[in-house]
Amino acid sequence: MSIGVGVWGTGNMGRASVAAVLGHPELELRAVLTSTAAKAGRAASELAGDGGRGHTDVTITHSDDAADLVDRGCSAVVYAASGDVRPDEALEDIRGCLAAGLTVVSPAIYALYDPASAPVEVREPIERACRSGGSSLFVSGVDPGWGNDLLPLLATGLCHDITSVRSLEIFDYSSYDQEFSVRELVGMGKAMDYEPPMVAQGVPTMVWGGQVRLVAEGLGVHLDGIEESLERVALDTDVHTAMGLFEAGTQGALRFEVIGHVGGIPAVVVEHVTRIHPSVAPEWPQPASGAGSHRVVIEAEPRLEITVEAEAEGGNRAAGGNATAAMRLVGAIPWLCEADPDLYDGTQVPLEPGRGRFVAPNTTT
Ligand SMILES: NC(=O)c1ccc[n+]([C@@H]2O[C@H](COP(=O)([O-])OP(=O)(O)OC[C@H]3O[C@@H](n4cnc5c(N)ncnc54)[C@H](OP(=O)(O)O)[C@@H]3O)[C@@H](O)[C@H]2O)c1
Repeated sequence: MSIGVGVWGTGNMGRASVAAVLGHPELELRAVLTSTAAKAGRAASELAGDGGRGHTDVTITHSDDAADLVDRGCSAVVYAASGDVRPDEALEDIRGCLAAGLTVVSPAIYALYDPASAPVEVREPIERACRSGGSSLFVSGVDPGWGNDLLPLLATGLCHDITSVRSLEIFDYSSYDQEFSVRELVGMGKAMDYEPPMVAQGVPTMVWGGQVRLVAEGLGVHLDGIEESLERVALDTDVHTAMGLFEAGTQGALRFEVIGHVGGIPAVVVEHVTRIHPSVAPEWPQPASGAGSHRVVIEAEPRLEITVEAEAEGGNRAAGGNATAAMRLVGAIPWLCEADPDLYDGTQVPLEPGRGRFVAPNTTT
């Protein structure tokens, strides 16, 4: 019997999550919730593009009430509404879903990617809701997410004499369909004295420190501590993108690391290189091709380098990354529904193979 699933939020991750649920043979899409009244009544399948065609007659509902998911027969929900600018509200929505007995997966709450190191005031109410609802929560994505917990740890199993594990996101954000994040949070196109919130002191560690700790724990090593590094570069010339103009002299690229030291040596590192045009800071790491790559580099015997380039929505790399994030979350739902009520991290939840998801080419038309 299939598991009834709802998707809450219809932005980039909500869209990818609808497609992921529709493409999973053990799941059935039963509801899509939006906070935007104008989206209500539209067919949910429209969100999934070609993948949704003919798959569902679910319509989008204007609601912020977990009871609407339960009433529509959902046992699980992908909470894909933004937690970036409304973390407390998003956490409260998730708490309500868990208390109502729903299994919850979400990319939205950065403090809960590594629940064991989450602040107690964040973790405890969620733990109580899991206990009272008999439900579980898994917060993950691509980066943070499988790109810097599961993938590097899996790859370390192929190596010995490991001296460092580094995961990188190398992206040109000019095609990222999230102008607010690109300009306001990441600071692209802002004066060089603007402090982008995403890289304000302590924020990278809040967001990615859990991933560093999970990898260290998986390797069985004790971290001396976690440090951050940050470099920013201005644009030499004006750059025109689908989001408009990014002026010469404003921020055109940034590079940060979240570094876990062992014995004074950088041992587990998460690195981001983010540009608004491929020509900026050419000496920094580059994607293998196109607009973006996720990469894992393990200094070990053998030295291992894995580059992942996902594409979706007509070759878009940002949408490709989001699609993998959605599938990591959605694919976890059957396992979570059977698990003991709890909060789980990316090293505990297995990445199940795509059994039943193969589609012979002549059945797609
Ligand atoms: N770790 C990862 O790999 C990863 C990747 C991508 C995103 N994320 C995280 O996932 C979350 C969603 O990202 P996204 O790229 O999908 O963002 P997005 O495209 O901006 O979509 C977010 C959606 O949240 C809903 N929303 C916005 N403001 C709201 C409010 N005040 N109240 C209720 N709902 C509101 C809106 O959907 P409706 O109009 O339908 O309500 C909006 O479309 C973010 O927290 C982001 O940081 C993580």
